[in-house]
Amino acid sequence: MKGLVLAGGLATRLRPLTLVTNKHLLPVYNKPMIYFPILSLINAGVKEILISTSPDHAGRFAELLKGGSDFGAKFYYSIQDNPKGGIANAIGLAKEFADNEKLAVVLGDNIFSYNLKPAIDRFRKREKGAVIFGIRMSKMESKHYGVVEIDSSGKVISIEEKPLKPKSDIAQSGIYFYDNRVFDFIKKLKPSDRGELEVTDLNNFYLKEGSLECDLLDWWIDAGTSHSELLRANNLVAEKVKAGEL
Ligand code: DAU
Repeated sequence: MKGLVLAGGLATRLRPLTLVTNKHLLPVYNKPMIYFPILSLINAGVKEILISTSPDHAGRFAELLKGGSDFGAKFYYSIQDNPKGGIANAIGLAKEFADNEKLAVVLGDNIFSYNLKPAIDRFRKREKGAVIFGIRMSKMESKHYGVVEIDSSGKVISIEEKPLKPKSDIAQSGIYFYDNRVFDFIKKLKPSDRGELEVTDLNNFYLKEGSLECDLLDWWIDAGTSHSELLRANNLVAEKVKAGEL
């Protein structure tokens, strides 16, 4: 199983903080933001990680993270020429890196302490399919994300990207596990109204064939959505680090 951390995009919602640097290099309490998703993969035993970023500031990631030896891992770099191509576009660029293995994807602005190892170990044994991770919040909040509807047995019924009327209070986080067919599904995607290849459309391929599972996280922050969420991430991470939980 290989890892992919996405650190592209334009981060317009965090301007002017992101005018001359990449969002994922901004501090979150005691570390650059991108350390959190990278460490979540390494702690789960995923030691070969591709870091996908946009052409501007790409060199900064290499300066910071180097080849991965400081982390006991091996890092590779990929450049997404169109920084707004969409999450699925960036995943598609990892085909050669994945080299027929399964892929664990984490968005570079997602912060959580959930131990991914048991889920990764289970997924390694599955023949095919995908796993997404949800987090409960109010419907007022969930509509700003992908919204995941599940039945009483935990089976996924629908996923909608930022719906006006959310069907559930579960947001889709930015953690996704895929089998190697993901690259064939990505080829079939069409750009959405916002011009991106959407991860939600990708996950719907797996949902339709009945091979999508959803685990629930205990806490999670998308630190890239607004200045106030970035501040909340800083404060929460400070608390968790001081309590020895992160
Ligand atoms: O964080 C979870 C949410 O991420 C999900 O609930 C949504 O279903 C999913 O679409 C996504 O929503 P956002 O619209 O908030 O994604 P954003 O544009 O903020 O990008 C998320 C991360 O992916 C960010 O770290 C930058 C990276 N990215 C994004 C795009 C569009 C790329 O590397 N390349 C891209 O083309």
